Amino acid sequence: MSDLRIDGGRLWDRLEALGEVGAVHGAHGERGCARLALTDADRDGRDLVVGWMRDLGMQVSTDAVGNVVAVHPGTDADLAPVMIGSHIDTVRTGGRFDGNLGVLAGLQVVETLITARVTTRRPVAVAFFTGEEGARFQPDMLGSLVYVGGMALEDALDVRDADGVRLGDDLARIGYAGMTPCPAAAAPHAYVELHIEQGPVLEDEGITIGVVTGVQGISWTALTITGQSAHAGTTPMRLRHDPGYVAAAITTGVRSIATGMGGTQVATVGRCDLHPNLVNVVAATATMTVDLRNTDEALLQEAEARFDTLSTQAAEAEGVTISRRTLARFQPVAFDPGMVDLVGQTATDLGFTTRRMPSGAGHDAQMLARICPTSMIFVPSVDGLSHNIAEYTTPADVTAGADVLLRVVLAKADER
Ligand code: GLV
Ligand code: MN
Ligand code: MN
Repeated sequence: MSDLRIDGGRLWDRLEALGEVGAVHGAHGERGCARLALTDADRDGRDLVVGWMRDLGMQVSTDAVGNVVAVHPGTDADLAPVMIGSHIDTVRTGGRFDGNLGVLAGLQVVETLITARVTTRRPVAVAFFTGEEGARFQPDMLGSLVYVGGMALEDALDVRDADGVRLGDDLARIGYAGMTPCPAAAAPHAYVELHIEQGPVLEDEGITIGVVTGVQGISWTALTITGQSAHAGTTPMRLRHDPGYVAAAITTGVRSIATGMGGTQVATVGRCDLHPNLVNVVAATATMTVDLRNTDEALLQEAEARFDTLSTQAAEAEGVTISRRTLARFQPVAFDPGMVDLVGQTATDLGFTTRRMPSGAGHDAQMLARICPTSMIFVPSVDGLSHNIAEYTTPADVTAGADVLLRVVLAKADER
């Protein structure tokens, strides 16, 4: 069993096939994906992956928030499974690897066990969770959050997207409002997620495997700034109440907060809409989002406080009003030290270079860590790009990560 390896070609073929669902083609040959949660494209991706799960003889169940869990049996059916998971929804301008890799590598682990006739004591489950990205429905990691009991099912089903579409309605529309109760009845024995790094560190340092120690804290806020719409030619600057100007001041201000604080603090305005959005009209409203993240909870709170002061002062100075709504707020998460060590030791034993690192992105693993020992494996992202249709990870790195995943799962699945 020590020379057991996954079939990297088969995994790559499935990545390519899933990447064709909701494919987005760039002007320079880039191939990405647009499979926002619970859209028709998400349904088509789900159908494809569920078909592969069934082809492997796995027992597939869908829960009430649309999380899909497929189980491959162990020799002791009474034991909790080792779960491999991630997501297959993407941002609108997403890549083919973010999330997809973790799920499809899980299927490859199961296929490897079947092909090599290797049995494990515990079952091995492969899951994909609903709406990890948070690009359409907030918060991010919504499906796994409900799975671990961190958000009431009814509240999750009532979340609305920017067009007012209710999550529960689109879940039913695409046929994934399942019968299995959510939160899950029982915790897995352990959870492991293989994911692309989505940043530049591994590539920059020439390292193959990132041993993920935890996930940084996330704070998402939606702002609505309301001012006075007016004629752009006739209204003197001193008499304006311009939401567009305040949105710009907040955008530059949060960037200064992040660069001023340094360390792991990051700040992003990823969305900003002006209304009525016309060349010769001072805007009536601006709606925007602010994404703040830090590995340290106290520092994240400091960034939030500075952002609060900044936006209040900018609004007062311009004579506009601001309303704020929290879209997501998750504290930093530290993974189980034993699981982190297992990933590091396994990768080293396989001859790969490793480095310990926190995750800058949010992941379903940070939710599963609430209910069972959890860890993650990162592989390099070419040019550090993700949430970008140019996102790419080499076949060799994909295979390396999946081999580490296989070994970690084998180690956990034979535990009593
Ligand atoms: C989710 O992918 C996030 O980190 O934004
Ligand atoms: Mn992801
Ligand atoms: Mn993502």
